[in-house]
Amino acid sequence: MSPAGLFLSFEGGEGSGKSVQARALADWLRSNGREVVLTREPGGTLFGERVREVLLHAKDVSLAPAAQALLFSAARAQLVAEVIRPALAAGAVVVADRFFDSTLAYQGYGYGADLAGLMAITRFATADLRPRRTFLLDVPVDVGSARRAARRSGANRWDRFESDGRQFHDRLRAGYLELAAADTARFVLVPGERALEVIAAEIQASVAELLVPSRS
Ligand code: TYD
Repeated sequence: MSPAGLFLSFEGGEGSGKSVQARALADWLRSNGREVVLTREPGGTLFGERVREVLLHAKDVSLAPAAQALLFSAARAQLVAEVIRPALAAGAVVVADRFFDSTLAYQGYGYGADLAGLMAITRFATADLRPRRTFLLDVPVDVGSARRAARRSGANRWDRFESDGRQFHDRLRAGYLELAAADTARFVLVPGERALEVIAAEIQASVAELLVPSRS
């Protein structure tokens, strides 16, 4: 039997703490002797990083929601082919800081792109690869905005997705919660307004259930 890794993803709106928790989980897994590959989207490949520049920071480039979705999906297709599938085949744990649920939440629920179309693009881009478990870090929109504002002071690059208003972030949060409610076998809803260590411990316990003992 070929070794099969474990694929986990983290999702959430801005200021939800998902990137901190993705890194904490990767560190914990490594300290337990696991091979871990941590990815971020968009990015994680040379192509993905270039696409990231256009998607996030090219203020002069206007992008319709469908165009955004196709670009995120193109970057994802490359990440899956170049990084994620080989890592899983080698038995690693892949921790993804965002995966296709971000496209459904942002381009779909947030910007109104057709959800069925987004799902079709996603299946094509990933060849149906789905995370075994997805941790949705959820915080009230006001909390996320305050954290984001605190972090942004100092970093002054324009960001397409942080320039949107309150209503967008309300739709985004509601969309994520709807996605999680529709697939409780995969999603774990993680309230994000608690101490970092408390959240990290909860996530570790959830992942521990999925780990087969390493034979090394
Ligand atoms: P990033 O700086 O990586 O921040 P974050 O910590 O929020 O992940 O920015 C990625 C941005 O891209 C973020 O605002 C969400 C957005 N995004 C989409 O709109 N659709 C997608 O499919 C993905 C992967 C990200």
